[in-house]
Amino acid sequence: MDVKVGAAKQIRGSVRTAGDKSVSHRYAMLAGIAEGTSEFENFSSSADCASTLACMEAMGARVRRNGNHVEVDGTGGALAAPARDLDCGNSGSTMRMLSGVVAAQPFTSVMIGDASLSKRPMRRVIEPLQLMGAKIESNDGCAPLKINGAKLKGIAYQPPVASAQVKSCVLLAGLFAEGETTVIEPVRTRDHTEVALKAFGGEATRSGDRITVRGGQKLRALKAYVPGDLSSVTFFLCAAALFPGSSLVVDSVLLNPTRSVVLDVIAGMGPKINFLKVEEQFGELIGTMQVEGGIFAGGVISGAQSAALIDELPAIAAIAPYSTNGVEIRGAAELRVKESDRIHAVVRNLRAMGAEVEEFPDGMKIPGGQRLHGAVIESFDDHRIAMAFAVAALRAEGETTIKNAEAVAVSFPEFFEALGRVTE
Ligand code: S3P
Repeated sequence: MDVKVGAAKQIRGSVRTAGDKSVSHRYAMLAGIAEGTSEFENFSSSADCASTLACMEAMGARVRRNGNHVEVDGTGGALAAPARDLDCGNSGSTMRMLSGVVAAQPFTSVMIGDASLSKRPMRRVIEPLQLMGAKIESNDGCAPLKINGAKLKGIAYQPPVASAQVKSCVLLAGLFAEGETTVIEPVRTRDHTEVALKAFGGEATRSGDRITVRGGQKLRALKAYVPGDLSSVTFFLCAAALFPGSSLVVDSVLLNPTRSVVLDVIAGMGPKINFLKVEEQFGELIGTMQVEGGIFAGGVISGAQSAALIDELPAIAAIAPYSTNGVEIRGAAELRVKESDRIHAVVRNLRAMGAEVEEFPDGMKIPGGQRLHGAVIESFDDHRIAMAFAVAALRAEGETTIKNAEAVAVSFPEFFEALGRVTE
């Protein structure tokens, strides 16, 4: 499906998105392991989280869904051998995190994914799980993964890449392992697994950069509202940043500090972000904010900041040519192994729109003060690339066509409709 996006004058109104994808994945997995019936309001509408629910269902959890209301009858930890392959679709989170759970079960399972996921690196989870005693066969470090469940033992592990998925995989495996399992995390990554574990009555303790879980914990069901997806909201913040005079209210959105670095970065580049309300629900911060477009200066994003912003970098890069001083992104080589090679995808599409951009192995440099024109955008079947360039198109001259725009359903099926509602 192609979607055409024309130039806009302003962003005004309000937006509320379905539940955060990262939180919804974890709630679905833990609900499947827990005892009792969990109930979630505003569960993510993403195809990715539907993949996680389907995998949990294939292992004996009962799932009832009515739109974004989801109920899960947990298995109490006694997962059933799946009768079919566990299809993770496009979702790296599903495959990486759930591999930690299935590695500890007394059965064999096969995890598969789509063409993109089948190319993504899985050694980062295979290695620690093998250290814990798991038996895993892969296609040269990629999916399909054949996981022969085994009795696992706790380890202390320092992942070589900053990855919340790897951390979560090891911690989830640790729930079923003998003794204690510790992940040492030199660069802090999103902590939803640790937070969710507590919400389900479990425990993960942090001491400095070490997070530890005890094996054999019993989890109990949770009833919760899932805060709106901050990564999805970022596309709207970037759209508002493009137009002085824009004003957008974002309602009930996740504001977890390990995720909200994007707000500091955007506010640091000029747009004003006012917090109207912030509260805590089950350990996660949720709030309402208002963003006002004004100056969009640009700046440098690197190191730990790049890791913390990894999902939001395509959106910021796509609007960078319109900044005053340009944007330089470094330390973001992980972008090359996401749903697409996002450095290549951003550079290719910015150039198609007439932008000047320099590509590095770990990032890019985009001068500011540029005028772009509409173009044909290749989404590379990557949701965030499709959405990032729909936003860039709002300030380009002429019309932009986003190819394979249906990819947005991977995280945000309502994206184009929601963008249309706030665009003037
Ligand atoms: C995620 C972690 C990040 C992120 C992904 C979701 C998560 O991946 O890019 O979209 O929910 O834990 P890495 O942990 O591989 O950096």
